[in-house]
Amino acid sequence: MAEEYGHYISGEWVDSSGDEFFDVVNPANGEVLARFPKGTREDVQRALEASKESFRKWKSTPPAKRGEILLRAGQILRERKDELGKLLARENGKILSEARGEVQEAIDFFEYIAGEGRRLLGETVATELPDKFAMTIRVATGVAGLITPWNFPIAIPSWKIGAALVSGCTAVFKPASGTPILGAKLVSVLDEAGLPPGVLNMVTGSGSVVGDEIINSPVVRVISFTGGVDTGRTVYSCGATRLANVGLELGGKNPIILMDDADQDLAVEGVLFAAFGTAGQRCTACSRLIVHKKIYDEFLDDLVEETEDLKVGDPLDPSVDVGPVKGKEQEEKILGYIDIGKQEGARLLCGGEKLNGGGYELGTFIQPTIFEGKPNMRIAKEEIFGPVLTVLEAKNYQEAVEIANDVEYGLSSSIYTQNVNLAFRAIQDIEAGITYINAPTIGAEVQLPFGGVKSTGTGAREAGTTAIEEFTEIKSVYIDYSGRLQKAQIER
Ligand code: UN1
Repeated sequence: MAEEYGHYISGEWVDSSGDEFFDVVNPANGEVLARFPKGTREDVQRALEASKESFRKWKSTPPAKRGEILLRAGQILRERKDELGKLLARENGKILSEARGEVQEAIDFFEYIAGEGRRLLGETVATELPDKFAMTIRVATGVAGLITPWNFPIAIPSWKIGAALVSGCTAVFKPASGTPILGAKLVSVLDEAGLPPGVLNMVTGSGSVVGDEIINSPVVRVISFTGGVDTGRTVYSCGATRLANVGLELGGKNPIILMDDADQDLAVEGVLFAAFGTAGQRCTACSRLIVHKKIYDEFLDDLVEETEDLKVGDPLDPSVDVGPVKGKEQEEKILGYIDIGKQEGARLLCGGEKLNGGGYELGTFIQPTIFEGKPNMRIAKEEIFGPVLTVLEAKNYQEAVEIANDVEYGLSSSIYTQNVNLAFRAIQDIEAGITYINAPTIGAEVQLPFGGVKSTGTGAREAGTTAIEEFTEIKSVYIDYSGRLQKAQIER
């Protein structure tokens, strides 16, 4: 019997005002794991009300105390890493080692951001007048609306929730409908860690009702959204209408550039991990491999051979390399792109099929797929979000960088080369929020800012030292201790 959940509002698990539910399905075998309420506009209003009411008190709670709760939550997550990792693999379909890695990412972030409660740094600044002091302080922005995707169902919520809460914001959180279980578990852990009622509220349901109500509410002063670029545009324009702060982390079409002097064995391993890890369903996944013509044929032979050896199957089986894609909708979209690739004349080097028979038909499995393409093809430009890699040939470094930059997105990127000068040049030349040297495009660490340029996003970077920027405003403070009226600019 699938477990039934409610919304979490004012510190309680509550029923929806509506009577509709949706199922959460294991993409490996179709098993129904849980039922969640399809939230209504009234449910969201209740959650917003709770967030609004608790804001003043939470904002004036010493930040170190707020941090302590997050640290405790991190410790509870650590104790449950195994259990949550397994559940995540079942809910999302990523293989167990990656699922555990994702839980670790949430632990890491809570531990990291808890310390921010002892910093929330401002600046002291010189003033132009005597007997006067100037500084900046950080002030919590207000109620935050946090909307997260299904591909990182605990790590991405932890970034947003951790940063919002330590900053002194209260929040309404809407997890993705594909993976709300891990979101609900995270909320329970925070409850257990002692989070006061109303500070964090969770409402599940559709983007068109729950998401829409959050992004259009005048109560919400900051919206943080991770997801697709089309929805991102809607979120941005709704936020713009009422001048709310909006942080967006959207798509990627992340390149790995392989120079002729690259360590090819290392690169094969890196490309396999970045392109087919998490079945390619990471914003940071490598979906374009740009190879120097001198090593092109040789490298591709190796890569295809290794790709064909990848084992696709049950994410809980430790010998499996690639799990299912997340559900029918994803499967259709990815297979649609494989068709597009064939139609636009890309050469299929391996994969390209949905797996059927032997139990695969119960889930949504797609073979790791490699196309040889041209830079102007749709499969080389658009985000596919699946195990599909397009390989492109470049005659030199210059051309490789031009190809790398000639897309709408700019999240992650990588270059494999032994040439230190070229590596440093690439750090400057590649248009992306993240660049790796001799390492794949995935696996960002929580203590560094995460985000991208161009259509990948706007607003402050998540994680790292910048995490709190999304949820705080800077106030400039002047303290005049001269005892007389001092006139800046005029007394000069
Ligand atoms: C995402 O795919 O949206 O860098 C996040 C990585 C992970 C986070 C990915 N730490 O691959």
